[in-house]
This record gives sequence, structure tokens and C-alpha cells, in this order.
Amino acid sequence: MKLKNFITFEGGECSGKTSIIGAVKKVLDEKGIKYITTREPGGIKIAEQIRSVILDINNKEMTKECETLLYAAARMQHLSERVIPALKNGYVVLCDRFLDSSLAYQGYARGIGMDNVLKANSFALDYLPELTIFIDVTPDVALKRLESRAEKQDRLDLETMDFHKKVYEGYHKVLDMYHDRVVRIDGNQSLEDVTNDCINKILEYLGR
Ligand code: TMP
Repeated sequence: MKLKNFITFEGGECSGKTSIIGAVKKVLDEKGIKYITTREPGGIKIAEQIRSVILDINNKEMTKECETLLYAAARMQHLSERVIPALKNGYVVLCDRFLDSSLAYQGYARGIGMDNVLKANSFALDYLPELTIFIDVTPDVALKRLESRAEKQDRLDLETMDFHKKVYEGYHKVLDMYHDRVVRIDGNQSLEDVTNDCINKILEYLGR
């Protein structure tokens, strides 16, 4: 089932999601549209706690199965506690990452398999977004941005170039699987152009 006004943002590392979501917020404010922004894994206390376990660079022994289930667990708590109530109260929900991240990262790049990820996330399948913005930045461009990023890197940032290439391929599989709801935005353009493309798609979806 797809949820009206539930919008998710997807892309590999350093795809610019955070700044883009910031710009979308400004436009929605100007138009007087009620919204919340949130992220996965996280957005609420329990899911943020799960996030710190998943991304802890010391948790090197974590299996890919455990990682998949932790993302799924954080997702369900976040849906129940934050996303669904906000939608019910008439808010647009802008969420940084959702199920498609698990499909690309765990399903494809880690090799768990897309089907297994869907099984692990079976509860969440009742709550899919109606619109997903996929910011398509090629891995070489993304990795250059990642190397210049000042903040501390997490367990997934420390993965190899090969892993990030697989994530990228995984997202393209997701795009093929869900072309009814996933829109691809060319993320190799200037940040301004990427942002404008995203805003146009979102306003078109919201009918504004
Ligand atoms: P972020 O860097 O966008 O905050 O996301 C945190 C990391 O978690 C990022 O490397 C992508 C990864 N991730 C998955 O591998 N699977 C998932 O289901 C989600 C939501 C994130």
C-alpha cells in the first residue's frame, strides 16, 4: 500500500540529500504546506539508538543479516511512532532514506538478495511512499565528495569503492522495479539544478 504525502529521498553517500531536503523545506514553508522532515535509520529515540549500533565503526563483526534486520526494526518503529501519525494529522512527510536503501545496500551491495530484504521488511510493505526522489550521483563523483567531507566517517562510509559501485547498481535495479513511484534526478549537475529538479517533482506531485 502506498501512503499519500509520504515522500522519501534516496541516493548513495554524498548525493546531497541533506542540502536538497533543506531547500525543499524552504519552498514548502513559503507555500504554507505543513510538513515534517525525518530520517532513516533514526528520527525517533529508539530508531536513533538502533542507528548508533548499526553505524558504530567498532561493530565490525555485525553480520549482513543482523544489519538488515536492525534497519527493518528501526523502520517499523519510526513508521509507527512518527511517519503514520504525522500523515494522519495532515502533514507531508519528507524522509531521508527508506526501504529502497535496504534494497540497494543490503539486498544488492551486501548480497542478501532483494527478495530477502522484502521478506525482512514485510511489515513495512504496507506503508510505502507514493513518491521517491532518487538522486543519481555516479560513485566516482560521490567518493570525491566523501573524501573531502570533514566530519567523522561511519561504518558504511568506510566501505570500499567496489561496495559503493554496487550500491549504485542496486539503486538502478530499484528504479526498474518501482518506476511507478521512484523518480530519478540527475545528481551530477550543479547542486542548484539538482535542487530545482527535486522541488519541481515534489510540487508537481503535491499538485502545487
Ligand atoms: P545516511 O548517511 O544517509 O544518514 O545513512 C546512514 C547509512 O545507512 C548510509 O550509509 C546508508 C545506510 N543504510 C542502509 O544501508 N540501509 C538502510 O535501509 C538505510 C535506511 C540506510
